[in-house]
Formats: sequence, structure tokens, C-alpha cells
Amino acid sequence: MPAAALCLLCGVVIPAAVLCAEPLPRVAFPSGDPRRTLTHFSQANVSHYDIFLLHESEEELYVGARDRVLALTVGTPGSIRAKASITWGPTAEKTFECAFKKKSQETECFNFIRVLAALNKTHLYVCGTYAFSPACTYIHLENFTLMSSGRGQPFLDGKGQCPFDPQHTYTALLVDGELYAGTMNNFQGNEPIISRSLGSRTLLKTDTFLRWLSADTAFVASFSVPEDDKVYFFFEETADEFDFFERLLVPRVARVCKSDVGGDKVLQKKWTTFLKAQLVCSQPGQFPFNVIHHAFALPHRDRGADIYAVFTSQWQAGRTGSAAVCVYRLEALEEVFKGKYKELNKESSRWTVYGGPDMNPRPGSCYMGPSSDKALTFMKDHFLMDGKVSPTQGRPLLVKTNVTYTRIAVHETRGVSGTTYRVMFLATAEGFLHKAVELPRGPHIVESVQLFSTPEPVKNLLLSRGKGILYVGYSSGILQVPVANCSVHRSCAECVLARDPYCAWHSLEGSCQHVHAAADM
Ligand SMILES: *[C@@H]1O[C@H](CO)[C@@H](O)[C@H](O)[C@H]1NC(C)=O
Ligand SMILES: *[C@@H]1O[C@H](CO)[C@@H](O)[C@H](O)[C@H]1NC(C)=O
Ligand SMILES: *[C@@H]1O[C@H](CO)[C@@H](O)[C@H](O)[C@H]1NC(C)=O
Ligand SMILES: *[C@@H]1O[C@H](CO)[C@@H](O)[C@H](O)[C@H]1NC(C)=O
Ligand SMILES: *[C@@H]1O[C@H](CO)[C@@H](O)[C@H](O)[C@H]1NC(C)=O
Repeated sequence: MPAAALCLLCGVVIPAAVLCAEPLPRVAFPSGDPRRTLTHFSQANVSHYDIFLLHESEEELYVGARDRVLALTVGTPGSIRAKASITWGPTAEKTFECAFKKKSQETECFNFIRVLAALNKTHLYVCGTYAFSPACTYIHLENFTLMSSGRGQPFLDGKGQCPFDPQHTYTALLVDGELYAGTMNNFQGNEPIISRSLGSRTLLKTDTFLRWLSADTAFVASFSVPEDDKVYFFFEETADEFDFFERLLVPRVARVCKSDVGGDKVLQKKWTTFLKAQLVCSQPGQFPFNVIHHAFALPHRDRGADIYAVFTSQWQAGRTGSAAVCVYRLEALEEVFKGKYKELNKESSRWTVYGGPDMNPRPGSCYMGPSSDKALTFMKDHFLMDGKVSPTQGRPLLVKTNVTYTRIAVHETRGVSGTTYRVMFLATAEGFLHKAVELPRGPHIVESVQLFSTPEPVKNLLLSRGKGILYVGYSSGILQVPVANCSVHRSCAECVLARDPYCAWHSLEGSCQHVHAAADM
């Protein structure tokens, strides 16, 4: 391996091992490069293509934008066609109220779509900020129209499911007809909430008074493993369990149980299973990567899932800072949730480890039976775990300087030799897409694609596995990016050295081809 040999050499000559550890993209495509053509879609007067929902057939893509929901036909790679569109903007009255509350009529008093979920075969569920007055409704898929589109008919109240402010972070997940959401629950934006709504069971939420979440909580992702009783939320918040001279942010994972129905006398209409724990992503001698931007759960047959998360550090913001990818096994999360609880010592105002007797069933576990008042009372102040979740191998999988990763998607693919590879697609705050493959010796950045001609953050990144395509959402449109263009590699050596698991050299035809195409020969 020439790269490894070089690394060893420079380790001897230059003490800063950082130079060696940092993977560089093998190929970089500038914006508009004909070797990496991107299919673009946008509609006149429509902006903020923030939310994607891919139909399971991968033939249709639903998009939530500003005052608009679109249905796009995407079955043929290289083509995106508008099939239908719904205009759903706030009423003049709502816009006036929004402006009256000192919000901008130019940038804020619109309906930014934030939730778009496939409720069943015939209906989508959709929520938007609706000029700082969140609203939700249903969409008929048959004719792509809003359900309550009749004049004067009120939409459903979206409070607790959708943020008020388009700047606020959010995450939502539909499981078995119920919506699990993490968002801000008020206009001021200082009351975060994790809620469960829709469906026929009791509405559940986090307790604000007990401060289960810090006022600045920023949600980045949520997921659940099918056939498992748990839903996980990933977020960022100010930690108050440390004595620290400045505001300290920590990345967290929280867990609730699907079987939770809330308490009877204690914790009525509140989660009785809410637990949270700290995520760790750090390497020796460096500032910890403590700001989480996004997380992606890659399902795993035996261990449930591996969670890939992207971070930066609070102490090195901007371009000169670095970004990290850390991977957590679901088992590692579960181990921490099975461990010791923390509790706040009322006299000293310090967080200590709970040393009292164990209870059976364990409070906060996904136990289906009724919980005693004693167990529920315990849960009111024992929601923070003492243990921290460490990444696999105890360190980041990838560290890259001078970049902020805002989104991640991971694809498991089979190379030409039958080996399974994991490919990470990382979108940056400046509008680049890095494709990195995990190799035994460490990650290798196969390519970097500049998505836009002027720098701006990628808002959404969605992988269409079946079609081998990525969808990128940003302020003024949608891009369709094929996972690879193997024909840019002209020779056998180039094709092999690219170490792109999607590509293989076809010796008969003398060309570098997509693995599926090559395998079909
Ligand atoms: C792939 O690369 C080849 C060779 O550079 C180029 O002719 C072709 O247009 C590219 N295809 C795409 C989809 O970018
Ligand atoms: C876009 O907005 C402008 C100004 O409001 C309007 O004149 C134009 O007709 C709109 N275009 C479309 C396609 O809706
Ligand atoms: C889908 O959900 C909608 C809204 O709750 C409901 O009206 C409709 O009957 C459901 N359709 C099916 C096929 O279950
Ligand atoms: C759309 O289809 C639904 C369900 O079939 C129907 O109730 C509704 O009236 C239709 N809306 C329009 C505008 O045709
Ligand atoms: C950081 O990236 C910018 C472009 O995004 C580039 O101009 C600059 O030279 C880079 N700095 C370093 C130290 O790599």
C-alpha cells in the first residue's frame, strides 16, 4: 500500500501525525464538471426544499418546501419531473399576526414544511410552521390534495409536532401510525419537547417543569428499529451535570418505549420511560467533538443498527475547525441505558450517581405491565444516565479538518469480489459532497463533488438505495446525484486505485464500469 508507506515515512519526519491521519479526496469535481453531471430540479417561486419523503417504490419523491408540497416523478435516473403540487401557505390573517409579533414577512412568516410522513397507502401527514403557528393536515395521495382545504376549515394544531420558527431544529418519525417528534413547543423557542401523537393512544410528552431537556435542546435525528419497542432521539443541549466555567454543550441520545402509555396518578400524559445519555466522540489530545449535526442509523441484521453521527467542536468553529464521524453500536447505547442513573443532589446542586436500592421491574425499561407510583416518582428525577456512550473502537472513524459536515447517509454495498463495503455520503456546510468508503486500514475519501456554484449548506440528503441515487435538498432546488460515475476512470490502474466499491474494471471491454453492470456481463 503506497499510501500506508507514505504515512509511516511522514510519521518519522514530521511529528504532527495529523498530516497522515487526514484522508484527502482522491478526486475532486468542481461545480458543473461534465464528468459528474447532476440533475437539477426547481420550480419558479419555490424555495427551501427542506424535507424529503421517498415512496417505497423509489419512483416518486415528495418534497416539503416553503408554502409548497411537491410530488415528483423520479423513476428514471437523470430525470425529475413535477407530477403534482400543493400550495399551502398561511392565511393573510396568520401572516399579519406573525408580522405583528415582529417576525419578518420577507423571510419568516411562511409555512415551512417540517413533517412529511407516509401515514398509510392513501394519505400523507404533513406539518408546517404556518407563520409561527404550526399546523398539520393530511394529503390525499390519489389526487394530491390537502384534506381540509375547504374555506375556513381549520387545520390541526401542530404544536408539539412541528416548530414555530423555521430556524428551530426538528425531527419526526412515524411508527405504527403514531408520530414521535422532537421539536420546540413554543413561540419563544425555549421549551423543547419529545412528543407522541396521532393514533388512538394518550398523547405523551416530556415534562417541562422537571427539566428533562435543557431549554436550548436542538434535535438532529430520530429512529427506531422495527420489531423493537424503542424510539431514539439524537440532540444537542447545554449540560448542567458538569461544573464548567462556560456553557458546555453535549451530544445526547434519548430513549422512549413505544409501549409507554403514561402514568396514572404520577406522570399523567408524560413519558414514564424517558432516559437520556451522553454521546462521546473524541480523540486524545484534542478538543472533544461535542456538537452533533446529524445522525443516520444503518440497520444491521444481528445487532439492530449502527448509528453514524457527524460532529464538530464547540471550541473550533468555522472553516478552520474539524469535523468527525463517530459510529455507535445500538448495543453500546443499550448498555448505558441498563447502567447506573444520575441524580441531582438538592443540597449541593450537583449531579451524583444514584446509589440506592435497585427496583424490579427496572424504572424506565420497556416493561409492558403497569408501573408502581414509586417507580414513576423515581423516574421524575432519574432520567440522566451515569454512563456515556463510546464510539466503536473508542475513537472517531473519520476526522477531517477545515470542514463542517451537516448531513450523513450510509450505504452498504457489495463490491465486485462479493465483499460488503460501507460507503458514507457526507454533505458539508459549504455545499460539497464527500464519498468515503470504510476500509480495514481506515476510511478513504473516494471523491469530493462541489454541488453548488456558490457555497451554501446542504439541507437534506436522501439515499435511494434501489436506484443508486442521492437526493440533495437546498435553498433553491433539488439535485439528483448518482452514487458513482465509473467511466471517469479511464485506465485499469485508475479504476482500481480509485477504490470505489461501486466500480470495477471490465477487461474485455476495457472500461471501468458500475459493479452491477460489470457483474451482469
Ligand atoms: C461520466 O463521465 C464520463 C467521462 O468523463 C462523461 O462522458 C459522462 O457524461 C459522465 N456521466 C455523468 C452522469 O456524469
Ligand atoms: C412568481 O412570482 C412572481 C411575482 O410574485 C409572479 O409574477 C409570477 O407569475 C410567479 N411565477 C409563477 C410560475 O408562479
Ligand atoms: C389513512 O389515514 C386517513 C387519515 O387518518 C384515514 O382517513 C384513511 O381512512 C386511512 N386509509 C386507510 C386505507 O387506512
Ligand atoms: C381527492 O380525493 C379524495 C379521496 O378520494 C376526495 O375525498 C376529495 O374530494 C378529492 N379532492 C378533490 C379536490 O378532487
Ligand atoms: C479551507 O477550505 C477553504 C475552502 O473551503 C480553502 O480556501 C482553504 O485554503 C482551506 N484551508 C486549509 C488550511 O486547508
